[in-house]
Amino acid sequence: MKNILLLSIRTFCFLCMTFPVWAQKSSWTVGMSQCNLGEPWRVQMNADIRKAAASHPEIKVIFKDAQNDNLRQRAHIEEFVSAKVDAILVSPKEAAPLAGPVRDAFKKGIPVIVIDRRVLGDDYTCFIGADNKKIGRAAGRWVKEKLGGKGNVVELKGLMTSTPGQDRHTGFRESLQGMKIEIVFEADMKWLEPNARKEMESALARFEKIDLVYAHNDPGAHGAYLAAKSAGREGNILFVGIDALPHEGQTYVKQGILSASFEYPTGGREAVEAAIEILRGKIVPKEITLPSRVFTKENIDKGGELLAE
Ligand code: FRU
Repeated sequence: MKNILLLSIRTFCFLCMTFPVWAQKSSWTVGMSQCNLGEPWRVQMNADIRKAAASHPEIKVIFKDAQNDNLRQRAHIEEFVSAKVDAILVSPKEAAPLAGPVRDAFKKGIPVIVIDRRVLGDDYTCFIGADNKKIGRAAGRWVKEKLGGKGNVVELKGLMTSTPGQDRHTGFRESLQGMKIEIVFEADMKWLEPNARKEMESALARFEKIDLVYAHNDPGAHGAYLAAKSAGREGNILFVGIDALPHEGQTYVKQGILSASFEYPTGGREAVEAAIEILRGKIVPKEITLPSRVFTKENIDKGGELLAE
C-alpha cells in the first residue's frame, strides 16, 4: 500500500514537472481582449472565435471589448491574469502599450496568442495574422499595373502606431520604387471611415488630378469614395482597400465602388485552434501566417485570387 502511494506521488510529481498546469486539465477558460467592436472586421473576428469555440465544449471564451482604448486593453490582460484564465487571446490596439502586460502574462506561464496586430518584442506564445508587407507589396504591384506606371495617388494610412499600418505602407512603397507614380497626399486615418472621408475632402480640395486612392482598409477606401462622390469626382478615381469581408469589401467590389480589395483574414478560427493545441500540451509555431487573396470585378465570382509571392 505504502509503495503504491509512493508510486502515485512520484507519477503525479513527474506529470507536474513534464506538463504545464493547463495540460493536466480537461476544460479551460480563455480570455479574449478585442481592441474595439466598432469596426465590422473586429465583429467578424469575434464571430469567428465564437463559431470555432462552439465546436469545442471544453473551452469557454470570455470576451472583452477595449473600445479602442490602450489603458482599458492593458487592464483586460491584467484582469485575465488575476482571474487565472488558462490562456489569453489578444488583438491589440497598438504595439507599444500592450507589450508590457502581454509580457507579464507570458512570463507568469499563461499562453498568450496575439492576433492581427503585433506587440513589441517576442514575449508571447504565438502570433497569428496575414503578412501585411506582402499585402502592401501586392497592392503596389496591382496599382502600378492598373495605372501603367504613372499617376497621382492618395494613400490613406491605418493607425501608424499599429503594425499593419506600418507594414501596409512599407510594402506598398517598395513596389512603387522607380515608378512615375506620385503620392500626392497621405494621411493617417487611424482605420476609421469618417476620418478617411475628411482626409479625402482635403485631398480633393488640394489636387485636381487624383487617379487612385490606396486605403489601408476597406472602411477607409469607402470613406474616400463617399468624399469623391459628394464632390462629383468618383468616376475619375479608382479606390483600393484591404480586408475584403464578404459583406463589406467584396460587396463594394461587386458594386463597382472599389476596384480591388485585398483579403485580411481575421485569424479568429486559427487562434481558437492554436489555443486548444497549446492547452492540450502541444507546441505550436511561434508565427502562423495566414494566406490572402485579391478580389477584383474580374475574379470575384471565382472567389478571388491567391497572392503570389
Ligand atoms: C479593424 C482593422 C481592419 C484592419 C485591421 C488591421 O480594426 O482596422 O480594418 O485590417 O484592423 O489591424
